[in-house]
Amino acid sequence: MTQTVEQAWDILAADWQRLQSQHLRDMFANDPDRFDGFSFSLDDLTIDFSKERIDAGALAHLFDLARAADVEDSRDAMFAGKHINTTEDRAVLHVALRGSPDDGYQADGQATADLVDPVLSAFLQFADDVRAGQVTNAKGVAFKDVINIGIGGSDLGPVMATRAMSKFSGEGPNVYFVSNVDGAHLRDATRDLNPETTLFLIASKSFTTQETMINAQAAKVWVENSIGVEASKAHFAAVSTNLDATSAFGIAPERVFGFWDWVGGRYSLTSSIGLSLAIAIGSENFRAFLDGFRDMDQHFKNTPLERNLPVLLALVGIWRRNIMGCATVALIPYNQRLENFSSYLQQMDMESNGKRVTKDGAEVATKTGPVIWGDAGTNAQHSFFQLIHQGTDIVPIDFMITAQPTSYLVEQHDLLTANFLAQSHALAFGKTAQEVRDELLVAGDDPATVEALVPHRTFPGNRPSTSILYSSLTPYSLGRLIALYEHKVFVQGVIWNVNSFDQWGVELGKVMANQLAPMLDDGADLSGLNSSTRGLIENIHALK
Ligand code: F6P
Repeated sequence: MTQTVEQAWDILAADWQRLQSQHLRDMFANDPDRFDGFSFSLDDLTIDFSKERIDAGALAHLFDLARAADVEDSRDAMFAGKHINTTEDRAVLHVALRGSPDDGYQADGQATADLVDPVLSAFLQFADDVRAGQVTNAKGVAFKDVINIGIGGSDLGPVMATRAMSKFSGEGPNVYFVSNVDGAHLRDATRDLNPETTLFLIASKSFTTQETMINAQAAKVWVENSIGVEASKAHFAAVSTNLDATSAFGIAPERVFGFWDWVGGRYSLTSSIGLSLAIAIGSENFRAFLDGFRDMDQHFKNTPLERNLPVLLALVGIWRRNIMGCATVALIPYNQRLENFSSYLQQMDMESNGKRVTKDGAEVATKTGPVIWGDAGTNAQHSFFQLIHQGTDIVPIDFMITAQPTSYLVEQHDLLTANFLAQSHALAFGKTAQEVRDELLVAGDDPATVEALVPHRTFPGNRPSTSILYSSLTPYSLGRLIALYEHKVFVQGVIWNVNSFDQWGVELGKVMANQLAPMLDDGADLSGLNSSTRGLIENIHALK
């Protein structure tokens, strides 16, 4: 019998009635093969959901929800280039950026391969030429340093991936990133650099973003003051869909790499927005990165829901968010090089699914996107894990680790891995009052002290986590991991029936900032402002 979405939600709520009193300790004790039943693989990538508070019945009902919500048809609509971004009337085709011509992707009747392939070849050639010292300053000297100026989707992905892939940088130039309108960001990035050997990439889909434009102008002044207006032209390239604006800024057309309105900013890392990464790791590695995305795209497109990794990740997330009521998710890669992964995923997930109305404009009936946050393990263990183990809120975690070490300090990887295993174990199984009591008594503590300490040293456990394990951190595996999360976000947006591809929520603040900027001038008329904003501005004037 085909269910409605409402019926599917009701059935899941009934599942939780059954499961909420069960402890993960008992679930593992009752099913010695729980790992086998709740872990899923694609090649070397395994995702273990066995430490989530679900059972086979609940998982089956989550698939029913996905079917009732038309996840399969919606997925097909995205791959077919339908205008699923309804409020901006656009297709959503970031998958075409890493497709092969055989995939047959089309945007508004045009084969995307005809658009993508020439731009990809051009920006990868430029990247290799910068690396090889073939793209030079006006005196023919190679660039030693490259600064990407961009923000949001034009910054977070390139920053994250460039740091993650530092092992693959070889002999290329140093690559830095400036995003914040706070002048300290550009100042700090350029402080030790020589303008004569610094290349700037101005990355902005719109080429109107306030922060990026003001930083780009400041960079231009920094270079021009050093080497003059004419020579400075060799020091700028741009990535944008707004070619009129790049030309008005003075960037030569052959130094501008475009992309298309069917690529959202937070999904643009595999477009020419990835130029800074391509300069950091070279074209061969960049193409391997794209291959990783494509393999996950194909898996997502072609695999039945029951074995489909992004779908599984999404559904477990739905269970955590809507059934268990968890408001946040922590992403904890046990990998120092992925320290920026959670901030990249923050934009991807929260800008996509942080929505309060459905595609039809009605108020949503369920909670939508959770707060995404995190840090690299083991650092996170020494900052916020106390709350995750013993605080009053349940914070589900996505743990990630590679089997192989990422550095030559191979023996440290075993300790890293032991910590990864220990955390998910401790969260799931906890430590009972009796275990604490026995341990302290054996250690010789007196019974009164023991009883006073027991509540403090008890771990409730039953705290959910998912573990993501793969062979090693390479351009390929990183691409696959990012695409896993892109499609997870997509599936959740379909189930919540929100438009995951617009971002109207960031507009109001931008407009207000432009309106308020003149109010910071001495003598500005503050009479129309609310008392808080007026009071703060008056204090700012007094403190300046
Ligand atoms: O923060 C809002 C936003 O529009 C993001 O969606 C986007 O990634 C970012 O600004 C940067 O935009 P642009 O690439 O146009 O400068």
